Amino acid sequence: KRSTVQQLLSSQELDREVLVKGWVRTRRGNKYVQFIAVNDGSILHNIQVVADAEKFPEEALKDVTTGSCVAIRGKLVASQGKGQTVEVQAAEITVLGKSDPEAYPLQKKATSLEHLREIAHLRPRTNTFGAVLRVRHALAFAIHDYFNKNGFFYVHTPIITGSDAEGAGQMFRVTTLPPEHPPRTADGSVDFSEDFFGKQTNLTVSGQLEGELAAMALGSIYTFGPTFRAENSNTARHLAEFWMIEPEVAFNELEENMDLAEDFLQSLVRYALEHCADDLAFLNEQYDKELLGRLHFVVDNAFQRLTYTEAVEILKSAKQKFEFPVDWGTDLQSEHERYLVEKHFKKPVILTNYPKEIKAFYMKLDEDGRTVRAMDVLFPGIGEIIGGSQREEDYEKLTTRMAEMHVPTDELDWYLDTRRFGTAPHAGFGLGFERLVLFVTGMSNIRDVIPFPRYPKNAAF
Ligand code: 4AD
Ligand code: MG
Repeated sequence: KRSTVQQLLSSQELDREVLVKGWVRTRRGNKYVQFIAVNDGSILHNIQVVADAEKFPEEALKDVTTGSCVAIRGKLVASQGKGQTVEVQAAEITVLGKSDPEAYPLQKKATSLEHLREIAHLRPRTNTFGAVLRVRHALAFAIHDYFNKNGFFYVHTPIITGSDAEGAGQMFRVTTLPPEHPPRTADGSVDFSEDFFGKQTNLTVSGQLEGELAAMALGSIYTFGPTFRAENSNTARHLAEFWMIEPEVAFNELEENMDLAEDFLQSLVRYALEHCADDLAFLNEQYDKELLGRLHFVVDNAFQRLTYTEAVEILKSAKQKFEFPVDWGTDLQSEHERYLVEKHFKKPVILTNYPKEIKAFYMKLDEDGRTVRAMDVLFPGIGEIIGGSQREEDYEKLTTRMAEMHVPTDELDWYLDTRRFGTAPHAGFGLGFERLVLFVTGMSNIRDVIPFPRYPKNAAF
């Protein structure tokens, strides 16, 4: 039976026959003995395979080169070498897949993260992406685990939708109409009644509206799926395709929504610290010496809560000069968010009660009529990691707001039904999964925390 490298390295049972399969990282040695470092992705570390020249003359190892795939039978023994406690004394080495060492793109010298984005197949074979992808997996698992333990139901919301959940017009269209000669109506506009769904459709920007329907029946739900935004933001924080987690809870108000967001984020970071210690230590060493300190800090400290209005006052009296001026009513830029988090409070911040003009139509209006019950969670190095709100549960107020913001009520009639039949206070938020992975791994570009990043001018594979 095959063992993974992870199993071998944590094994207490020595001097037994084992079989391990993986990819060769390096081979070195002398004319008496060769050391082959094999990695199978199960863990950051390699297993050292020792091949004695008596049994394996140079000829027998000629295809055991960096990048090749091997199956090794041998004995698991205590290692005399430093850096590992066990190693495999090889008895049989089979090359499953050769790899031309001259052509293999991952050479000894480090390959830049930018260059690695262009070799999708080999990117995950590097220590860095191996670590990132294992942390990403652990966080996804922790998310489901958190909600499951807290009585939330996982709801699958559609990828193809007929509406714009955020009302921001950043959708990718989905159509089967011929691009050259689409059918036209009498007035010359494209006739979408001929389209596959008989209407205009797009990739979802958020599962929230469908999530709200589910919450108004099941109580506490969450979505966790891909979302798509055609915003032309060529930044280190934006993707055109990203995964979002959106809990929605019937009867919760803004305060409880903040409590949930804070507890949720702290639990996830704690989970990663407990379950990904090796990978995080590696990332801390390799890229960002403050990573582990920052993660512990988030777990151990309560988030700072304040209103948008209070934040604007702080920013206006800040000594720091900003590129974009701040005034009540303008949306905060990431330089402002990061000032509040990194310079002023020096901890995660939850900003609430934003002006209604800069937030989505579905947020509950405050008594003052000027602000809404929005909340953004801001993190060091990231800026906005969560956006959420208490929802407007009142039919009249909601439809008035939609009219003011030119959100078509007819397209969203199915959504408005929640406010017609047994409406209730409810609240939720969206966590950008890649922004979370970015924060936890300490990487600096969001394109490096998803296996196949989608961003402007890039969908090669
Ligand atoms: O603030 P947003 O736009 O909120 C919503 O979509 C709500 N429907 C959520 C809800 O209340 N259920 O997006 C939520 C989060 C952001 O805080 C950010 O972390 C992430 O999604 N996000 C992106 N991540 C990567 N690339 C992008 N282009 C992103 N846009 C938003
Ligand atoms: Mg937002």
